Amino acid sequence: MIKYRSDVDGVTEEDLSGFFVGWPSPPTRRLDLLRGSSRVVIAWDDDRVVGFVNALTDGVLMAYLPLLEVLPEYQHTGVGTELVNRVLDDLGSLYGVDICCDDDVVPFYERFGFQRVNGMVLRPHLKPRIRP
Ligand SMILES: CC(C)(COP(=O)(O)OP(=O)(O)OC[C@H]1O[C@@H](n2cnc3c(N)ncnc32)[C@H](O)[C@@H]1OP(=O)(O)O)[C@@H](O)C(=O)NCCC(=O)NCCS
Repeated sequence: MIKYRSDVDGVTEEDLSGFFVGWPSPPTRRLDLLRGSSRVVIAWDDDRVVGFVNALTDGVLMAYLPLLEVLPEYQHTGVGTELVNRVLDDLGSLYGVDICCDDDVVPFYERFGFQRVNGMVLRPHLKPRIRP
């Protein structure tokens, strides 16, 4: 049975090695980025990390969910849905929660009530910052 915990206790860098499949330049320092997050939920299958979500928030108005990852062999078993439900519960009542995602994942998030909006992102590794 999958268990869910809202802390990174016991997670090692190696536990996070099977994620970010297909990313052109996957993040390093994965444990640090979870430790630096306002909220995390980790999915455990016994002593194996099989999924995680993190949130950054000001605690008053807004939150952003930068990462949601489920190991390929655990996808389509409800883990991602449970992670999102739990992190939204942990964040509590806010004005808004934002996510950026690829087109193929839009239907996944729409199930929770997320809506498409216009957004702008700065990605210096894809396009350098311009000072107008
Ligand atoms: C997207 C992701 C987190 C979903 O997690 P999951 O555990 O597979 O999702 P669940 O089993 O809880 O729910 C899956 C349901 O969501 C819906 N869904 C719609 N689009 C989907 C998509 N692109 N991927 C997965 N589920 C999708 C379907 O109804 C699906 O039900 P089904 O499995 O019966 O077809 C997972 O596929 C993943 O880690 N993908 C790679 C990383 C990624 O894209 N993360 C999102 C970053 S914004």
